[in-house]
Amino acid sequence: MREKETVLRLNNFSLTYKTQKGPLQAVRNVSFELKEGETLAIVGESGCGKSSLARGILRLFPRNLEKVSGEIYMDGQEVLSMKEEDFRKNVRWTKISMVFQGAMNSLNPILKTIQQISEPLIIHMGMDKISAYNRAKELLSLVGIPESFAERYPFELSGGMKQRVVIAMALVTHPKVVILDEPTSALDVITQANIMNLLKLLKKELNLSYIFITHDIATASELADNIAVMYAGEIVEISPSEVFYSKPAHGYTMMLLDSVPTLKTTKKLKSIPGSPPSLINPPTGCRFHPRCQYVMDICKKKEPPMFQKGENHYAKCYIGESHE
Ligand SMILES: Nc1ncnc2c1ncn2[C@@H]1O[C@H](COP(=O)(O)OP(=O)(O)OP(=O)(O)O)[C@@H](O)[C@H]1O
Ligand SMILES: [Mg+2]
Repeated sequence: MREKETVLRLNNFSLTYKTQKGPLQAVRNVSFELKEGETLAIVGESGCGKSSLARGILRLFPRNLEKVSGEIYMDGQEVLSMKEEDFRKNVRWTKISMVFQGAMNSLNPILKTIQQISEPLIIHMGMDKISAYNRAKELLSLVGIPESFAERYPFELSGGMKQRVVIAMALVTHPKVVILDEPTSALDVITQANIMNLLKLLKKELNLSYIFITHDIATASELADNIAVMYAGEIVEISPSEVFYSKPAHGYTMMLLDSVPTLKTTKKLKSIPGSPPSLINPPTGCRFHPRCQYVMDICKKKEPPMFQKGENHYAKCYIGESHE
């Protein structure tokens, strides 16, 4: 079998915002690789930097961006240092697109379904209206929206249908990589399951690679080949998804897993004490140490490096390492 190509690679990607209280580093030294047809799930508590990372990959920076650094390779080409015009023409939406967090609630209220879906083609790709409508119609059927819904406005659609519209919008430009930022969070469980099934189907049919962002580790497992755990702006552990559940190596991942209910066990659920740290003045050493039940002396003093814990398994944690 041919080796899968790496479609996206991040190398020490960091991003800092200007705030009134000082620089806030929302993403710190994030590195990972995404192969064609694979899904990387990114999980972590609210405020850990998931959306900042996602938008950063698409170079959609807010006005108060202070600094961005590192490298982003799309199909082997470094794109963070590319001219904005080239990036807009050749990368954003065409190679990599995104379903934004909460997008289904910010659909343009005065555009019909067919217009919402064809708009990216007209705006970003300069396509004429008739070709764009034809392509949008293909997408309607691909994402399971009945043709009769093409002429409806957002207020006439259910949550699940609106989510299908935003997924269609992200796919209409034929990207290889799609970032899905909490695509099912606002939906009821049945609709969530339908959307997850749709995402699986689209991935297979179009050989897509996904970055699937969620705070819900149960949904992450359904789709992910690999899972990255983010804490305070950093990826603290990354592993194949089965290893994530069976052999977590970071204190934070262990405590996260202990805090979620499973159908199979009757274990007592533990919550993680405290709250995520300030990203303006993060703790010294390991950023998780003030909340970690396994904390050791070294964790308070020295930032852990990324240790290799197994095959394709890395964690920034001293547990199980000799470190004197
Ligand atoms: N434009 C901005 N200016 C200043 N701080 C920001 C900005 N955008 C985000 N932040 C801060 O950066 C940190 C990371 O935010 P981000 O939205 O990336 O987190 P998240 O993991 O996506 O959270 P959630 O799960 O709630 O969506 C937070 O502390 C947030 O308050
Ligand atoms: Mg977010």
